[in-house]
Amino acid sequence: MNRLALTLYSTAVSITLLLTPTLRAESGAEAWLRYARLGANASRTYQNFPASVVVVEDTALLHSAQEELLRGISGMLTKSLRIEPNLPPDAAIVLGTLTAVQKLIPGLHPPADLREDAFWVSNIRVHGVRHLVITAQNGRGVLYGVFFLLNKIAQYQSILDLNELQQPYARVRWIDQWDNLDGSIERGYAGRSIFFENGAVRADLARAADYARLLASVGINGCAINNVNADPRLLREDFLPQLARVAQIFRPWGVQLSISVDLSSPKTVGGLDTFDPADPHVAEWWRNRVDQIYAAIPDFGGFVIKADSEDRLGPSFYGRTQADAANVLARPLQSHGGVVFYRAFVYNHHLDWRDQKNDRAKAAYDYFHPLDGKFENNVIIQIKHGPIDFQAREPVSPLFGGLKHSNQAIELQITQEYTGQQRHVCFLIPLWKEVLDFDLHANDQRSPVMDAVAGITFHRTTGGFVGVANVGLDANWLAHPLAMANLYGFARLAWNPNLSARSIANEWAALTFGSDPQAVQIISSLLLTSWHTYESYTGPLGAQAFTDILGSHYGPGIESSEENGWGQWHRADHNGIGMDRTVASGTSFVGQYWPQAAQKYESLATTPDELLLFFHHVFYTYVLHSGKTVIQHIYDSHYEGAQAAADYVRQWQTLRSRIDDQRYAAVLARLEYQAGHAVVWRDAICNWFLRTSGIPDVQGRVGHHPGRFEAEDMRLTGYTPVDVIPWENASAGKAIECSSSQPCTGTFTPNLAAGRYEIDTQYFDLNPGEAKFRLYIHNESGDKLVDEWTANDHLPSTKIGGDTSTRHRAFAVSLAPQDEIRIEGIPDRGDHAALDYVEIFPIGESSPFQR
Ligand code: GCU
Repeated sequence: MNRLALTLYSTAVSITLLLTPTLRAESGAEAWLRYARLGANASRTYQNFPASVVVVEDTALLHSAQEELLRGISGMLTKSLRIEPNLPPDAAIVLGTLTAVQKLIPGLHPPADLREDAFWVSNIRVHGVRHLVITAQNGRGVLYGVFFLLNKIAQYQSILDLNELQQPYARVRWIDQWDNLDGSIERGYAGRSIFFENGAVRADLARAADYARLLASVGINGCAINNVNADPRLLREDFLPQLARVAQIFRPWGVQLSISVDLSSPKTVGGLDTFDPADPHVAEWWRNRVDQIYAAIPDFGGFVIKADSEDRLGPSFYGRTQADAANVLARPLQSHGGVVFYRAFVYNHHLDWRDQKNDRAKAAYDYFHPLDGKFENNVIIQIKHGPIDFQAREPVSPLFGGLKHSNQAIELQITQEYTGQQRHVCFLIPLWKEVLDFDLHANDQRSPVMDAVAGITFHRTTGGFVGVANVGLDANWLAHPLAMANLYGFARLAWNPNLSARSIANEWAALTFGSDPQAVQIISSLLLTSWHTYESYTGPLGAQAFTDILGSHYGPGIESSEENGWGQWHRADHNGIGMDRTVASGTSFVGQYWPQAAQKYESLATTPDELLLFFHHVFYTYVLHSGKTVIQHIYDSHYEGAQAAADYVRQWQTLRSRIDDQRYAAVLARLEYQAGHAVVWRDAICNWFLRTSGIPDVQGRVGHHPGRFEAEDMRLTGYTPVDVIPWENASAGKAIECSSSQPCTGTFTPNLAAGRYEIDTQYFDLNPGEAKFRLYIHNESGDKLVDEWTANDHLPSTKIGGDTSTRHRAFAVSLAPQDEIRIEGIPDRGDHAALDYVEIFPIGESSPFQR
């Protein structure tokens, strides 16, 4: 939109909003399908909207399309559409597949051929009456066309001259869920499973049905519902009726059910004494099982497989290849139209870390490139976007360029395992865009990743996009209200990877929070900067996330990646940091790219700063393209990132009353938490690198915290000082904990000039207990309780450390010079009311060293 158009749009929307009904509280359950009533002005825009709908076929998909249309129009325009069996004399919306609609409107032709799932929405004049026709090659396409129309209306866009044909970029647009049969979800951060509980499919699948509808609304056509670390019980015969129930729920929304399977199933549930893919009995077992599945679920999608990875059994057990394993499952699926998603996430997690030539990043290519061309046509190699594991920054997996004769799909992680676990906002679309736009230079020609996975580059028949979503029973699906932008954005990119991150952010914000231009602008800009912000305070320059890779994958754990076989090494020591992956002197990973890309990464001079430490080991004093040394960049980026996180709180506060209170408060609470945790990250990393490198911060911030009062330096009653491990995860490496059953206290005199101050208490919130804290001011007039709070968050650890360190702010507290501050901690069930420090600064004045 140009500036004038934007101004006109903003003005129009503002006027419309004046006429919009008051904001009702929302849980987020409706996500981007709110169908909130449009203002009176907008109703005028749509005053000639057809009054009826004609559905020319009687199928489950068309039924969903019709119902959705009625629901959306009644919600947004408060109109009830008439249902007509034939074209009425006045304008109607016509829904049907092309061949069926052509019977009603002979001579109707879309401007181009409609591929599977594509749709065409157009105003067509029949006997002088303009009808709105939504048609497609298949029923799913018609449903997508209806969602497209409703989406336009929700954004106040004109539909008057609509003539839009949309083709999906790729056939595969799937979601994986990592749900376990007991109802837990691997790397799920939003409650229990919507599919399973107590070892079975849930009796109540209402949320699963809602989910299928949400997925369909953005063009997702398949969903694998269980953990890739698959439970073999799913393949038991008696489980089949349960799977059939899920398929039945998915069917009206065009979402194909698939499941993850364990390669050892012929042995574990089949009673055979082997699962060797080359054994004819094993092949026969798979064939029988597949036939049974299709008898119960005729539109079954196929299998997802994780083998020879992270302790999953695989073909290597029998000396067979990944192709042998993939094909034994693919062959029986072929005749039913099913596929195998074979994950390229195959690697050895017992690598010898002392060997500088070892490199986990090479594994996928080393395993799969030699097998290129050996997979059946219905095998799709599912490749994580980077060569390691969903890090906040890694280069593109070279395997996308290495499979010329095999189908491939990119695996993107919507659930924020390594990117803040939905406690931090981290909009991943800009990251995914960089990956999808990356030019592989395959065959020495322009070949972006999006074309490789869509099958365009190497002329494959299928391929596409898989997103690991892990929604849960939390009302708003992903816990953080802003995290749903990632699910939405994933699907939008799977449909059209050429969309810009900004347009996706704007669209999602408008659909989710309403079209107030200021709200859309602020939410969108917050989203668009959030990945960079997260990366800045967690791990810069491609060194990966510095997180605790042996535990939660959440808080800082800088040394956790080193000196073990997992291979997420950054190799930081006293002199320098980074993995040398060059061909000339390193692990030769760079040699897995096509020559043009390889040349860029092989040379220090041409490697972009943001990936420097992924490809090269350098001294801390190495000067980046930006002109800064590596060490100064580490310090600066962490301070800038933490500052940006703090700014998010202020930006969000400008939205009060522009969006509903419920979601306003939910997001605010998360952003406040994030701002505090960003400081934990900042300090952990900066202090660790200061101690390790011995090089001070030229700006004098690192290791100096004016206004900070360490808990261990307070006068303690009941509390005892403890060393925190690793040391960098607490200020000065120490905390205090209250191990008694009685309340404990820490007291100090800050000696500050009289005035009003913000008081931040940095404490540790441990599961499962709910410790309480009270903050008192003591002076000659006695004791004054100024604040109290309960440590009842659910942070991913039971230990004092970087996962559990969090902050409470007492606002605008009046202090006089001799006032004493006393913090009382009341422990509860394993939560020892532990404290790290208190920080005090005058209100209205930002902290001396940007907070
Ligand atoms: C990551 C994640 C695991 C998951 C694995 C996978 O390593 O931490 O929980 O099983 O990826 O993608 O298979």
